[in-house]
This record gives sequence, C-alpha cells and structure tokens, in this order.
Amino acid sequence: MAIKVCVFDAYGTLFDVGAAARSVAEESGRAGFAAVWQALAETWRQKQLQYTWLRAVADAHTDFWSVTQDGLDFALEAHGQDGDPELRERLLALYWELAAFKEVPVMLAQLKAAGFQTAILSNGSPDMLEGAVESAVIGEYLDAVLSVEDVGIFKPHAKVYDLVSARFGVDRAEVLFVSSNGWDAAASAGYGFQTVWVNRKDEPVDRLPWRPAHVLDDLSRIPDLAGRLL
Ligand code: LAC
Repeated sequence: MAIKVCVFDAYGTLFDVGAAARSVAEESGRAGFAAVWQALAETWRQKQLQYTWLRAVADAHTDFWSVTQDGLDFALEAHGQDGDPELRERLLALYWELAAFKEVPVMLAQLKAAGFQTAILSNGSPDMLEGAVESAVIGEYLDAVLSVEDVGIFKPHAKVYDLVSARFGVDRAEVLFVSSNGWDAAASAGYGFQTVWVNRKDEPVDRLPWRPAHVLDDLSRIPDLAGRLL
C-alpha cells in the first residue's frame, strides 16, 4: 500500500543525543568527564533502554524522564563520575535542548511538500518531546507528536504502535516507520509497518524474528523512499 504517514522515533533518530553529550565533554573544567564520556554515554543509553524494557515486562511503568535519570545515575557511578551534581544536571538538561541531525528540517519539509503526514512516536514523555521539538525548531513540519504516556507502556509494545492508526486512521502498511534503534525498527516491522532502520554507525542487524525492510545511512533519502513504496 502507498505510504500516507511517515513516523519517526525521536532520540537518536531525529535528535542527536550523542553530539549533545560530546559538547558537554568539550566544556572547560570537564577533564574527568571528557576522558570517559563516550563509554559513559553508551552505558547511559543502554541502561535507559534496558529500564524501559524491564519496566514494560514487569508491568511497572514510569515515565521516560525517570528512566533517563535512573540510567544516568547508574552510568555516572559505573564510570566514576557520580560526585558532581552539576555534571548530572548538565547532562540531563541535554534532553531538553537537543539539535536535530542536520538533514532533518529539509527532509521533513520535503515530506510535507509531497503531501505526507508526519509524526514522532517516542518513549519520551510529552513535555520532554515538546522541549526537543521546540529546541530543534521542527514543530512546523510535524502533524503529531505521539508519546507512550498515552498508553502507559514503553516500546516495543504493540499498544504504542497502535497510537499511529488511532491518530491518523490509516492501515499499518500505509505507515513508514523510521528508527535508528535496530530493535524498534525490527519490532515495528513485525507489527506491520513498512520500516526503515537508520544505521548511522554501521552496526549489525538485531537478531530478532523480524527485519526492517529498508536500511539507510541517514534520513536524507526518506522522502524519495516514501514516494516510491507501494
Ligand atoms: C524513543 C527512543 C527509543 O525516542 O529513542 O522512543
């Protein structure tokens, strides 16, 4: 079926969390953090995601802001950076002032000009997503910003992906879902979306029962792909 709606994951897909952490490492007086920032950022992200999955499995939902803080606290301690409350606050503030990857505004503008509807579908809580959309100045290109908070469980639960059809009244196969998270791209393909995995870091494909139909290096060719899919 032809694509009607293009839906994007937020953190790591539209918003460049890695660049924000790097910029903190480059601030003066951050020598200790600069020495470990890449490993710390990786631990932070892995723990943040693990806590979303574990809370979903254990039926113990809390919002993404809470698991983001819990993941950071684990990572700061694991990398010997837990004695600096100001660093913790600075890192958490990143999530409210993220830049989009450089191709994002043009890509979204092209999708809108071609007549597609566009949305974010994210684990992020509504206030976090509002802050990130404002900071990246992409609100004018988005028809909806959908948060898991509307269903009270994290991705990849099907209730989250159901939010797209509920909002836009389209079939699953009319949705092009785009994520840089291999597990999100896989699970959404299993759900029935047409999916793109944005594999910026040339990572191996996740060994799950489903595979994304499309793999791209970045987001610049999404409008072309969306126009060609039938
Ligand atoms: C999100 C996370 C998974 O935005 O990146 O949902």
